[in-house]
Amino acid sequence: MHLDQLISKQRPGFTLDQEFYCSDTIFEEEIQKVFPNHWMPLDHASRIPNAGDYFLVSIVGESIIVVRGKDGDIHAHYNVCRHRGSKVCIEQEGNVSRLTCPYHAWTYALDGKLVAARLMHEDFKKEDYGLKPCHLRVHDGLIFINLSSGEAPDFDEMVAPLLPFLDMHGLDKAKIAHREVYPTDANWKLVLDNFFECYHCAPSHPEYSRVHSAAKLMAFGAGPDSGTEGAMKDFEPEMKEWQASAQALGHFTGSHAARGVGSFQGAMRAPIKRGSLSETKDGTPVSTLMGKFKDFDGGQTAVSFNPFGTMLMSNDFAVLLRFIPHSATKSDMEVIWMVNADAEEGRDYDVEKLIWVWDVTTKQDKDIIEWNRAGVMSRHYEPGPYSTQEAASAKLIEWYLSQLAA
Ligand code: FES
Ligand SMILES: [Fe+2]
Repeated sequence: MHLDQLISKQRPGFTLDQEFYCSDTIFEEEIQKVFPNHWMPLDHASRIPNAGDYFLVSIVGESIIVVRGKDGDIHAHYNVCRHRGSKVCIEQEGNVSRLTCPYHAWTYALDGKLVAARLMHEDFKKEDYGLKPCHLRVHDGLIFINLSSGEAPDFDEMVAPLLPFLDMHGLDKAKIAHREVYPTDANWKLVLDNFFECYHCAPSHPEYSRVHSAAKLMAFGAGPDSGTEGAMKDFEPEMKEWQASAQALGHFTGSHAARGVGSFQGAMRAPIKRGSLSETKDGTPVSTLMGKFKDFDGGQTAVSFNPFGTMLMSNDFAVLLRFIPHSATKSDMEVIWMVNADAEEGRDYDVEKLIWVWDVTTKQDKDIIEWNRAGVMSRHYEPGPYSTQEAASAKLIEWYLSQLAA
């Protein structure tokens, strides 16, 4: 069936036809039409503090070198030698003074310029064979890339509505305390579908559900616009009480939602649970206050830049959840935990306590997503209806199909 026909036969409020979760042809279309529209949050700049520090990023079948240059700026280059196409960097991370291809030793400066190529013909011009750049931006210490081969979408416009939410948290003065990758055998849309609903929180995440307010999970379990009006009403007294106490401390409260055709972004501040100060097993703090916080307000700030990356920030630590498409049937979920740059492990924070909530929750998510994938691959699968608690997932499908149709 032609893609346009397939798109128009999808039923609003239902999951997608099986092809969307496994077809290589559709994945190729997504590489052209969906992924280049977004700035993907990658990592924190503190991972590569010194000139020559680099790491490799794998995404949609590409390898990208993210490296700090001699000028102090961070650069991203496609990891493809301009001689005969070998990978230039093989080790996952390290420190180099130049990027030398292992095959015939063409050598590139950290900014991607070709600086040495032996025995080439006389008319060969090194300036024509620099590494191909990948769009990169750093904001508040967070590194973003964009995979467009043409012009990248406007970064400042994307991030503008999120600035008041990021402002308090001092991410530019953060460091990485821990990271985990959870390889997930499923199409990226099944991964996102799961992240943007909390219908599964009660049955699948007993720990997460104990850490958070039950009324909040019903109202805003997957961010603004994810619960019903009734659930929002039920949560209102708790929300108002918390907002008043946070505002009394001079802290920002609010929410922003732009989910549907054209955009899928959201941000909000909400209480974790009455009596909890941080998103930890027992609600007690796990590290030192970050950014502008002078006191714990018991709130959590959620910022979804787009479906591919969300920051969840307590007052004393922050988590970046990355969702990484590799192929039609393989994805990664990566979780990066950050604390204050001057916090010391053992004295100010304990990694086990820090990672507990999102480690246990993401392991459970990996399982349920892979079970979902197994069922979706059956000859007996057919698209099913989203519940009233999966409004954001339904909007995610709308967002997705509109880009694919463009
Ligand atoms: S392929 Fe890189 S130097 Fe030949
Ligand atoms: Fe989950």
